[in-house]
Amino acid sequence: MTNSIENLKWRYATKNFDPALHLTGNELEIITEAFNLTATSYGLQPCRLVVVQNKKLQEKMLPFAYGQRQVVDAPAVLVFCTVTMDDGYVGRYFDLVQKVRKTSTEILKPFQDQLNDRFTAMQHDQVEAWAKNQAYISLGNLLTVCANQRIDSCPMEGFNPEKVDELLDLKSKGLKSVLLLPIGHRKEDDKFARMEKVRLPLQDSVLFMD
Ligand SMILES: Cc1cc2nc3c(=O)[nH]c(=O)nc-3n(C[C@H](O)[C@H](O)[C@H](O)COP(=O)(O)O)c2cc1C
Repeated sequence: MTNSIENLKWRYATKNFDPALHLTGNELEIITEAFNLTATSYGLQPCRLVVVQNKKLQEKMLPFAYGQRQVVDAPAVLVFCTVTMDDGYVGRYFDLVQKVRKTSTEILKPFQDQLNDRFTAMQHDQVEAWAKNQAYISLGNLLTVCANQRIDSCPMEGFNPEKVDELLDLKSKGLKSVLLLPIGHRKEDDKFARMEKVRLPLQDSVLFMD
């Protein structure tokens, strides 16, 4: 069995975090860098990660997460957010490409115009849905990175995004919360850790076409 599969079997949606077990600075560094390295459509990174490590805020989050204790017991709650893409967003991305790769304007301009046209033609809610998809890719990436690092996590859609946005004052930063990921370390006696994984038989889940 490969290491990757062992790691994925080790992970589970952790319900009981041990509040006494903290994350090291190095663990947080790996997670935040992995978030930033996640692939995004066109490379536009329309997401941000808000790292909440504040018990008072986490307690306030509890009713907005329908009483799911993970948001309080975990030493950190990652909030995956979409960014409001203003008119200059695509342009700023291309400025960065030019700065990092020293690519000439002549080469970049047609691609930039094409992207600007594409986003201008989209409705606001289509752009939001597209950005949301990117947040889910980041979530998937971090679930795997956490498992590889033996960091426990619980992906969560079960919360009220408007209330969390209000609590964390995300609107003023042009952000909207999409997903939560409490991270930390499991309680030794968390019965969920020992439960059998419920998955389709592989042949029903994956179709090979030769
Ligand atoms: C996008 C997404 C949202 C989820 N939301 C919640 C949630 O709000 N609360 C929770 O306890 N688990 C949540 N889960 C965890 C799933 O229930 C869990 O991943 C699934 O049952 C498979 O179990 P496993 O991850 O332990 O293997 C979510 C998972 C995903 C991927």
